[in-house]
Amino acid sequence: MNVYDSGRMADVLAPLGYAPSDTAEGADMVILNTCHIREKAAEKVFSDLGRIRPFKEKKSAEGGEMILAVAGCVAQAEGEQIISRAPYVDMVLGPQTYHRLPEMVARAARGADQSRARGILDTEFPAEPKFDHLPAPKADGPTAFLSVQEGCDKFCTFCVVPYTRGAEYSRPAADILKEARGLTAGGAREITLLGQNVNAYHGDGATSGTWGLGRLVRELAEIEGLDRIRYTTSHPRDMDDDLISAHRDVPSLMPFLHLPVQSGSDKMLQAMNRGHTRDEYRHIIERLRTARPDIALSSDFIVGAPGETDADFMDTMNLVSEIEFTQAYSFKYSARPGTPAASMPGHVAEEVKSERLQILQMLLENQQTAFNKKCVGRTMDVLLTGPGRRAGQLVGRSPYLQPVHVEATPENVGNILPLFIESARPNSLGAKLTCSELETISA
Ligand code: 5AD
Ligand code: SF4
Repeated sequence: MNVYDSGRMADVLAPLGYAPSDTAEGADMVILNTCHIREKAAEKVFSDLGRIRPFKEKKSAEGGEMILAVAGCVAQAEGEQIISRAPYVDMVLGPQTYHRLPEMVARAARGADQSRARGILDTEFPAEPKFDHLPAPKADGPTAFLSVQEGCDKFCTFCVVPYTRGAEYSRPAADILKEARGLTAGGAREITLLGQNVNAYHGDGATSGTWGLGRLVRELAEIEGLDRIRYTTSHPRDMDDDLISAHRDVPSLMPFLHLPVQSGSDKMLQAMNRGHTRDEYRHIIERLRTARPDIALSSDFIVGAPGETDADFMDTMNLVSEIEFTQAYSFKYSARPGTPAASMPGHVAEEVKSERLQILQMLLENQQTAFNKKCVGRTMDVLLTGPGRRAGQLVGRSPYLQPVHVEATPENVGNILPLFIESARPNSLGAKLTCSELETISA
């Protein structure tokens, strides 16, 4: 979501003459787009600010000016602290107000002759959604993100998102279809629908009524040239029948799903306010596998949330062993100020969290490696997205979202080619062009 938001910030600033730069040194503006989900992410902001500050000072010593902004969820949650801890920051803006960046830049420019920093703070949740004020995004290569839903009303006890991103909001389907057509016309062949709770999507339908995500996917699949659709991140509670059957009916809906479970213990799921049990999660997975037998599954896990015992952790291990994920993210619980879990009893010692994380990650890595190895010898359709690790190589994405490396020439970027998978690494696959493709190329 932050990658998408950063792209949109670049879009709103383009008419003012700003263009993305590879380096902060010498830039006219630096925006740190921040994440507040865990303490480590939030703390990075201050060290990054310290790193960028000398560039800002150098620029003004040379008679120029650098506007320094902090955007995103740390800005939302800790705006005042940022301004007092780092007074040289000019603008602090939350994730719902970046459409107002041009206005803020103008205000910052008006204050340019003041020696003190401008301290512009814009972290409200505006009544009007920012999407209505953003220019149509342009495709930048064969894959694109499209935000369909934002915010969250689930209030998992460990999570800051409902406080930083605000209440759940679904964009009207007509706007989404229009944006998808624009992206496809600009060369995108794969679109990933984004939302903090993407499958809670319930936007105004393009024809009438309200559409859920299943319906939206079916309609998007009709767009000529849109070959692949993905969506992330989903909540188990919102995996409804229509969406599950879309995995059966819509060939362009890719057979990969990131469906966070967080824990395999019913007690922990309840303490986390996840709203489902371990068995309900297993049942959803069963239905998904019936609908699309080759679906590859990914998840997020939190270890060491308050109250988690060894037995609870073993429940998570057992669930992972049973389901077999092809990829996953796992984290040590990080107390977030203002969330209910932060003040719950039974905080787990740091060493215990580290130990559990290591054990869980070993199992998850083994499952991922096993899945990648099973792919060797198969031919898979790979969307080639850009230059690979080595010269002469391209990288692409398998249907299961594995990175695939292949020796191929740059004009193949944007092609979906059936590639023969010849090797597996823990995090990627190696492939070669099939004989028929080589014949075409030499002919
Ligand atoms: N501590 C650790 N991990 C967290 N996540 C969310 N909040 C926390 C927290 N306080 C993880 C969850 C979520 C992912 C995006 O980040 O697993 O799914
Ligand atoms: Fe956070 Fe996801 Fe729970 Fe919403 S559903 S509170 S975003 S973990």
